[in-house]
Amino acid sequence: MNLTQADSSLFKIISASAEETLVIGESIGKRLKRGSIAALEGGLGTGKTQLTKGIALGLGIDEEITSPTYTIISEYDGPLPLYHIDAYRLKGSDDFINIGAEELLYGGGVCVIEWSNIVEDLLPEETIFINIEILERGERLITVKGIDWELS
Ligand SMILES: Nc1ncnc2c1ncn2[C@@H]1O[C@H](COP(=O)(O)OP(=O)(O)OP(=O)(O)O)[C@@H](O)[C@H]1O
Ligand SMILES: [Mg+2]
Repeated sequence: MNLTQADSSLFKIISASAEETLVIGESIGKRLKRGSIAALEGGLGTGKTQLTKGIALGLGIDEEITSPTYTIISEYDGPLPLYHIDAYRLKGSDDFINIGAEELLYGGGVCVIEWSNIVEDLLPEETIFINIEILERGERLITVKGIDWELS
C-alpha cells in the first residue's frame, strides 16, 4: 500500500490487489462515525463493492456484504448501522428521494453510496468522496477526500 498526502484531507492510495483494497476499506471504516457518508465514484468493476466490504469490517460488521446493484439499498446491523446504496440503476436524485434513500443520509448510521455521482446534488458538504481508478495489472488508485487521516 502506497499512501501519499496532498493536503490535510486528500489522500491518494495505490492498491495492488483486491485484498489490499479490503485493508484500505477497513482503515477507512475505522475512521467513520455516526452520520458519515462515503460517496464512491469510479467505473464498472473498479472495486467499489470490494472497498465497501473493507469499510464494513472496519465498522465491526460481521455480516457478509453483497453488491446492492439489484436491491439498491442494503442495511447491515453493527455498532453503527451501515446503509449500502447503489445508485447505478437510478436515473437521478428524484429516484433516490422516491425510494426513501435520502432520509438514510441523516438516519444515524453510516452510508456508503456506489455511483454517487448520480445523486451528487443531494450529498451534504461533509461527504467523504472516494474515487477509484483502474491502473495497470489490477492496481487501483484510490483518492479519498474528507478524512483527516493521520499518517502512521
Ligand atoms: N486492486 C483491486 N482492488 C479492488 N478490486 C480488484 C483489484 N484488483 C482486482 N480486483 C477485482 O475487481 C473486481 C471489483 O469488483 P467490485 O464488485 O468491487 O467493483 P464495483 O466497482 O463495485 O463494480 P460495479 O460498478 O459493478 O458495482 C473484483 O472482482 C476484484 O477481485
Ligand atoms: Mg459494486
